[in-house]
Amino acid sequence: MLERFSLFPEQASTVAGQVDLFYFFLIAVSGFFATLIATLIVYFSIKYRRRSDSDVTPSIHGSLKLELLWTLIPFALTMVMFFWSASLYLTIRRPPDDALQVFVVGKQWMWKLQHMEGRREINELHVPVGRPIKLLMTSEDVIHSFYVPAFRIKADVVPGRYNTAWFEATKPGSYHLFCAEYCGTQHSRMIGRIVVMEPADYQAWLSGKDVAAGAPAEPPQSSGEVLFTRHGCATCHRGQAGALGPALAGLFGSNVQLAGGGSVVADESYLRESIVNPRAKIVEGYKPVMPTFQGQIDEESLLQLVEYIKSL
Ligand code: CUA
Repeated sequence: MLERFSLFPEQASTVAGQVDLFYFFLIAVSGFFATLIATLIVYFSIKYRRRSDSDVTPSIHGSLKLELLWTLIPFALTMVMFFWSASLYLTIRRPPDDALQVFVVGKQWMWKLQHMEGRREINELHVPVGRPIKLLMTSEDVIHSFYVPAFRIKADVVPGRYNTAWFEATKPGSYHLFCAEYCGTQHSRMIGRIVVMEPADYQAWLSGKDVAAGAPAEPPQSSGEVLFTRHGCATCHRGQAGALGPALAGLFGSNVQLAGGGSVVADESYLRESIVNPRAKIVEGYKPVMPTFQGQIDEESLLQLVEYIKSL
């Protein structure tokens, strides 16, 4: 009975213990001061009560010692909270370089995921234990939120932009996945699970049949190449002399000089924006002649196109 009643979800990722420890610290500090203040209110109201009609309130003009004490102690405590939580936040926000990437697209009302080897899933994510997993996430329609309590991660997926989250699962098992942002009538049913497997089992699973697509799994990079050809991107972006558009080889991660001054790092969000809203940022030396592909390519295909451009 008691085993089934737990205040906290299971700790199943590398950061879960750290997040809980910080949370317990906050509860302990709040609890200590709440108890102290409540006790002192009762104690003082008895000790300093008015004993007779002739009792006169003493006139006190401050105490430097006391004021320093009640300023410096809270200051020190809140600084501890700030630096501790900031360092934890940075750990949670920055995926390690060796992380395996997984695409996540939220849509009313399901989670669509794709592994870099090609396999797709819906409302389920299989991952190996002990490997950092980086999620590159976006939404097809409204804001959803990818929430895995056992991993202590929650990140919004926002239409029109990419967001990332990462985790490293520490023990095999099946863990709840929730949408934590009200996104319409079926919001409460936008749930799923994360299946954490031993590395060997994961490899076996990865080479299995792609149920979602009903076809052999194709890596997103290859799907992206097909889309690149189908939409005629190469006409302007093959890197020919005098081409209408800038060459794309080696573009990812580089610093792009923009017309009218300024520069931008060519990350996934920039690549995506340049496809759906090409006139938002014009590369120096080029004209705003590219047509928009807004509404013509869905988010999953955009992720694949971006993945292909990254590989050039
Ligand atoms: Cu999607 Cu709530």
